[in-house]
Amino acid sequence: MDGNGRWAEQKGKIRVFGHKAGVKTVRQCVNYAAKQGVEALTLFAFSSENWKRPKEEVSTLMELFMMVLNSEVKKLHKNNIKLCILGDVRGFSTTLQDKIAKSEALTAKNTGLVLNIAANYGGRWHIAEAAKELAKKVQQGEMAASDIDESVLDQQIASWPLTDVDLMIRTGGEQRISNFLLWQLAYAELFFTDTLWPDFNEQCFADAIASFSHRERRYGHTSAQVQASKQG
Ligand code: FPP
Repeated sequence: MDGNGRWAEQKGKIRVFGHKAGVKTVRQCVNYAAKQGVEALTLFAFSSENWKRPKEEVSTLMELFMMVLNSEVKKLHKNNIKLCILGDVRGFSTTLQDKIAKSEALTAKNTGLVLNIAANYGGRWHIAEAAKELAKKVQQGEMAASDIDESVLDQQIASWPLTDVDLMIRTGGEQRISNFLLWQLAYAELFFTDTLWPDFNEQCFADAIASFSHRERRYGHTSAQVQASKQG
């Protein structure tokens, strides 16, 4: 969700004004994804590196997360949306941790869109956590180190309700992954747009999905093989 700060600065306002405007886009995108039957939407709200930002910006972001949870969770629940927070929540205040736990519990049994919010999240951290869990299992004799392969690590990482990503959209003109879902992005289609997050809307989302629907996903096969398997 890149571009909030620049969007605000372009308007002669302070950066947090852009984050507040970004919440409106979050709402629109969640509604649009639910309406389109998207299985899971993951928003990168706060990276483990974002703590390095100015103190006031970090604390406003924390207040904003709390505010959004307070104002939106009941609506999410009413719309059958399941909310999951991905990341090291222990880095947040106990009040925020408590709110996160209650919000996840309230929506846990919902069967519609899965809305993942990555907060205090880093892709490398996520892989390291999974490796730590597997190491514990080896230590406790539940498995042998030689049992660990891609599919075992994949299952461990997918213990959060998040499987392989189909489409990654990055707004704000940067063309990099910035330690987002490194494992899950292995075969994702990437879509970069210069549109700043507060200006991103349903039409932009639809354009990204349209671009995705024209991509040929080969997973190492040749184009001819992919075409043949579609016909067969
Ligand atoms: C990146 O833009 C955006 C963030 C670090 C924060 C995103 C947070 C929200 C939209 C509000 C809360 C959302 C949820 C889902 C609870 P940037 O600040 O890096 O912008 P810049 O690239 O212009 O500097």
